[in-house]
Amino acid sequence: MKHFLDVADYSPAEIQDILDLAIRLKKEHFEHGNPPLFKGKVLGMIFQKPSLRTRVSFDMAMRHMGGDAIYLSPNEIGLGKRESIADIARVMSGYVQVMMARVFEHAHVVELAKWSSVPVINGLSDFSHPCQAMADAQTIIEKFGSMKGLTVSYVGDGNNVAVSLMHIAVMLGANFTIANPAGYDMPAVAIETGKKLAVVSGAKINLLTDPHEAVKGAQVIYTDTWTSMGQEEETAKREAVFPPYQVNAKLVSEADKDVIVMHCLPAHRNHELTDDVADGPHSAIFPQAHNRLHAQKAVLARLLEVA
Ligand code: CP
Ligand code: NVA
Repeated sequence: MKHFLDVADYSPAEIQDILDLAIRLKKEHFEHGNPPLFKGKVLGMIFQKPSLRTRVSFDMAMRHMGGDAIYLSPNEIGLGKRESIADIARVMSGYVQVMMARVFEHAHVVELAKWSSVPVINGLSDFSHPCQAMADAQTIIEKFGSMKGLTVSYVGDGNNVAVSLMHIAVMLGANFTIANPAGYDMPAVAIETGKKLAVVSGAKINLLTDPHEAVKGAQVIYTDTWTSMGQEEETAKREAVFPPYQVNAKLVSEADKDVIVMHCLPAHRNHELTDDVADGPHSAIFPQAHNRLHAQKAVLARLLEVA
């Protein structure tokens, strides 16, 4: 049983293959329409947190390809509260052909996969956001042709989005630099995995605290919210620490002249990303959001073994 819990669970060749499929499916979507590969297939979507992009792009991915999706809201099934994760996994496995879950604790999506007899996709956990990374890689490849040799610089909190971006970047041969405030590092275990992947591809990982140093020579600047879902009680503390890590016109001017600026969204405008950059010529934030649709079609097609 193949699940999609983390990009690092796959080989670089498998990730590249899914991305190639995503690019092909996107072309087909715009040129001839979508093949009905998901006919008779239903995706169960379990959300413990809010979502715009993940919810709508997965739902539309299923509909475009002739399938269907069922949305289960945070207070509907009470993952691990109303019912155990093991029981939910086994019940859902009899109803749907594939599941996607957005959870607080990463261990919960792992537990769901352990008990499920249908593929499980991580739609964001406190540790990682692999579906976002797939769309991000697709966006970068569309712009630069490949990720090999690029410098991807992440500025801000060493969070779930940073972890998955680091893993996919170094797997595909891009150097990954992060500048985060002291105390807001990516988890050590994620860095360790990143370093192992980088050895294989020959990419470099730079762990910095200075955003100006981090963006020098970068083809991609990436940022995300300073306060992720589930950390709301830390908002004031974080708002005091993170302002030097704002991605603004000055910081962008210090990168490569063709740099693209990325953000997984939702953006807290004029906090981590200024309006002029978000809506300016370097911004890739909307193509990036739209690529969630195509990248996830490819992930679903591979898990459902229909393409
Ligand atoms: N980027 C992303 O996952 O957005 P949502 O939280 O809206 O799904
Ligand atoms: N790091 C953010 C990403 C949202 C898509 C969060 O976890 O809230």
